[in-house]
Amino acid sequence: MKIGFFDSGIGGLTVLHQAMRMLPEEDFIYYADTDNVPYGTKTKEEIIGYVDLAIEFLVNQGVKAIVIACNTATSVAIEFLRERYSLPILGMEPAVKPAVEKCSNKRVMVIATPLTVKEDKLKNLLRQIDDDHRVDLLPLPQLVTFAEAGKFEIMEVENYLRKELSTYHLEDYSALILGCTHFNYFKDTYRRIFPADVEFIDGSEGTVNHLLSILQDKKLLEHNLPKVEYYMSGRLVTEEDELARFAQLHERLERMLQY
Ligand code: DGL
Repeated sequence: MKIGFFDSGIGGLTVLHQAMRMLPEEDFIYYADTDNVPYGTKTKEEIIGYVDLAIEFLVNQGVKAIVIACNTATSVAIEFLRERYSLPILGMEPAVKPAVEKCSNKRVMVIATPLTVKEDKLKNLLRQIDDDHRVDLLPLPQLVTFAEAGKFEIMEVENYLRKELSTYHLEDYSALILGCTHFNYFKDTYRRIFPADVEFIDGSEGTVNHLLSILQDKKLLEHNLPKVEYYMSGRLVTEEDELARFAQLHERLERMLQY
């Protein structure tokens, strides 16, 4: 049986990429809701509707577990999905807690989509763990647009980030939390902007570890010849040029692991 991965677009490939490294004998289905990306600037109700259709599609493919490899979709739809389906459904959440605990005298910056920043899920988490108000939240919707357009290394990305960060003293920070899966593609640019001791933290590894332990507990691990099928809003990707694009994105993500 396959494992389903879902995101609004190419962001969730960062989590799939990690899963392919850590679970090399599993089959995967990756569902990118490319007809409706970006999610982060839409309403909660719209996103619940999109996610519902995508997850129904994956469930109908007979997957054994689903990873919502999208912080935005997780923050608005995870409870709804867990009530509706009995298979394991894992979500993504900005990994703020370890960063706050690790360094007690510096600030932590969370970058995410506008909706993730606005939603109760993150606010409730901060209420529990950020007693001394050391966490700053910054929405960066344009990064999703850049990623979807394949614009990774251009000056426009660096200029946008420098402008958005211009009012912050970056020396005050110990960690940058990547609270949107699309943001992993830009680690080389953050490295040019942030001081060398600022750590970049994303939730991919933690999520895949969690997936691994669920599959172990439920005796669902398999030894297959690994395979990935890509779907764009329900349509199987078969065109050579599209498959080559996904392969290039994996290559970029492999390079980003060094940061
Ligand atoms: N990749 C998504 C996330 O992790 C959402 C990006 C978007 O569609 O706005 O939040």
